[in-house]
Amino acid sequence: MLTIAKTVKEVRQYVTERRKSGATVGFVPTMGYLHEGHGSLIKRSVRECDVTVVSIFVNPTQFSPNEDLSTYPRDFEADKALCEECGADLIFAPENSEMYCSDFTTYVECDGVTQELCGKSRPTHFRGVCTVVSKLFNIVQPDIAYFGQKDAQQLAVIKRMVRDLNMNVKIVGCPIIRETDGLAKSSRNSYLSDAERQAATVLSKAVLAGEKLLNEGMRDALEIIVAMRKIIETEPIARIDYVDVVDATSMKRVSEICGDIVGAVAVFIGKTRLIDNFLWKIGDRN
Ligand code: PAJ
Repeated sequence: MLTIAKTVKEVRQYVTERRKSGATVGFVPTMGYLHEGHGSLIKRSVRECDVTVVSIFVNPTQFSPNEDLSTYPRDFEADKALCEECGADLIFAPENSEMYCSDFTTYVECDGVTQELCGKSRPTHFRGVCTVVSKLFNIVQPDIAYFGQKDAQQLAVIKRMVRDLNMNVKIVGCPIIRETDGLAKSSRNSYLSDAERQAATVLSKAVLAGEKLLNEGMRDALEIIVAMRKIIETEPIARIDYVDVVDATSMKRVSEICGDIVGAVAVFIGKTRLIDNFLWKIGDRN
């Protein structure tokens, strides 16, 4: 049975009660407007843990003033149905005031890995993500937390934060779930007009092409970046924020590929900024 909690106290009571019988706790933090990408994380937690908690909270501290906080899509009834279908046990859906008191002043900063890629155009974003995820970990106290590879930098940042601050939680990265034409599923896809939705397929086309080049033996990062850029530039309404090939842990640019890397793109399609990437592990090949 799916339980809904609005307060920190309710979550703590629920988790404490379930832990008494030795249950393990899996956690999937989200901002709602759930789709199959979120669903895949929830299902994995349900498979691997006795109790699955999903948080639904559009976190204001990770949006900058010119971003889409007020228009971020929301549909709590549909989210509830998806959580139920996937077998989640508890939804934590707090109000802003439950998460941030009016004189809130403590933030979690993770340097270096946050300054690359999305950090360049969204300089305060990961501070907000690290702060809210730390708070959520403190509230839920999960054994395992599940994050999507869709947000590759977020996953790298969270792994770093957990390591650096000795947080007692295992971080599991899960594969990107895509639409049939390749577009990575995202709550923000709902902003796209029909023409933009069509144009948005250049992201996954670029990412797949980059991955193919690596699989064919290409090891020069710049050549891969150029090839990916060319594909995106075929689409007149696409405006590149970045196309990069970076180390999978540090998110720093590499020139020659000799370890695990992420080929990542961020592209504006009209006003909507979309991201996509591929993870390529050297250990899988040679
Ligand atoms: P949100 O964008 O709702 O994403 C929640 C989780 O779902 C993230 O771990 C994200 O990587 C994963 N996800 C989204 N689309 C996916 C896809 N197509 N395939 C696989 N996984 C996907 O990321 C956030 O929320 C927030 O930053 C949060 C971590 C909740 C902190 O506020």
